[in-house]
Amino acid sequence: MDELELLENRLQRERLARKQAEALLEEKSETLYLLNQDLVKLAADLAEREEASRSILEATGDGIITLDESGRIDSFNRAAKGIFGYSQEQVVGQNIDKLFPMGITGEAFKNIPHMQDMERSGELHEATGRRADGSEFFMEISLSQGQLLQRRMIIVSVRDITQRKKAEEERKYMEIQLRQAQKLESIGQLAAGIAHEINTPIQFVGDNTRFLLDAFADIERLLSIYDQVLEAVRANEITEGLVTSVNSIANEIDLDYLRSEIPQAISQTLDGTDRVARIVRAMKEFSHPGDEAKSLIDINKAIQSTITVSRNEWKYDAELETDLDLTLPTVPCLASEFNQVILNIIVNAVHAIRDGKSDDSTAKGAILITTKQEGDWAKISIRDSGSGIPEAIRSKIFDPFFTTKGVGKGTGQGLAIAYSAIVDKHAGTIDVQSEVGVGTTFTIKLPMQG
Ligand SMILES: Nc1ncnc2c1ncn2[C@@H]1O[C@H](COP(=O)(O)OP(=O)(O)OP(=O)(O)O)[C@@H](O)[C@H]1O
Ligand SMILES: [Mg+2]
Repeated sequence: MDELELLENRLQRERLARKQAEALLEEKSETLYLLNQDLVKLAADLAEREEASRSILEATGDGIITLDESGRIDSFNRAAKGIFGYSQEQVVGQNIDKLFPMGITGEAFKNIPHMQDMERSGELHEATGRRADGSEFFMEISLSQGQLLQRRMIIVSVRDITQRKKAEEERKYMEIQLRQAQKLESIGQLAAGIAHEINTPIQFVGDNTRFLLDAFADIERLLSIYDQVLEAVRANEITEGLVTSVNSIANEIDLDYLRSEIPQAISQTLDGTDRVARIVRAMKEFSHPGDEAKSLIDINKAIQSTITVSRNEWKYDAELETDLDLTLPTVPCLASEFNQVILNIIVNAVHAIRDGKSDDSTAKGAILITTKQEGDWAKISIRDSGSGIPEAIRSKIFDPFFTTKGVGKGTGQGLAIAYSAIVDKHAGTIDVQSEVGVGTTFTIKLPMQG
């Protein structure tokens, strides 16, 4: 092979190698280009996502504040600005204490900056916040933990609940008003019945007293003839005529009858005044004014007095029996609220009995009230033989204003008031069991230790 040939071969090889290198380069730059495209897309995605998160953060109605581990504010969303009245620049880098007059030692911040106990994260607390203008307000706050570029971040979410608190207060006030109205209404309703209850004994006390007045006039006649007899005996001048007069006056006034009737009239009169006294006492116990605080009350006595004042409500429709545990200890209780609960349930029972009665039936229904101690609870149950509560509405009966009664007959407050009195005010329970066509039992449990 000559020199020229050798050179040509080498050139050939080099050309080939260059071609291959060029092809490789092209391939690599293609890959790079694609990778770059991906990266650009990823970056755009990320930017979009961050933008989305930011706009969610900015759009949310809750104030969101992020803190670093030492409690310094990192970020402050728009709602937080609105709630506290600070701009982002005014608070970033500042300690969170700036926003909370109670400081970081408050219950909600117990775990900052070493908030390890993440089980509590997200729990809601109520706290007092302070705005830029120094005014304070109620808020709801929850803490949670996040991770930002290897750093622990604490996320504080706050909500201004001033309006809600105000609405709550207003609702409470309305409730008190409603309860007062119901109490007055039932006192008004009971008053007619009580008047009637008192009227009967008062009437026979009157009749008996008038009878005694007449009887005494008759006896007076007899007594005056006895005076004459006595004088005659003293003077030893007793005459047949005088004896006859005594006899005939005794006959005229029907002495035998008076002798047997007068003691009866007296004891009936005493019964009557006892009955009136009992009703008046029950009324006093029932209305038990102004018991703001609980006192130890005798549940059985409270039930008895409620039964007495409401007698006219049930006596035409039901036989009301009691089976009271007389060994039941006194229970810390708001007496007038408790009485109102028992009354509401008795009245409902009477309505249910009327409801379940066929038109032509004259038979009375039955109401049974029992008390019993059960562990640390005083248990009161009120059973009726009324129409029962259909399953479908059983879960609604304690709702305010739920009623199945016609306009003017029920406002649906009776059991709502009972529920709030027993559950909210006494930490007790009230439950119902019912079978349509058979009857209903309400069971109340009150804790013996307030
Ligand atoms: N013992 C009962 N038997 C059958 N249904 C009952 C009984 N007690 C309550 N209910 C049902 O529960 C509903 C709500 O009772 P609640 O006492 O709250 O209101 P109301 O009796 O309708 O009206 P109000 O008590 O305000 O006059 C009643 O309308 C009735 O349908
Ligand atoms: Mg009712």
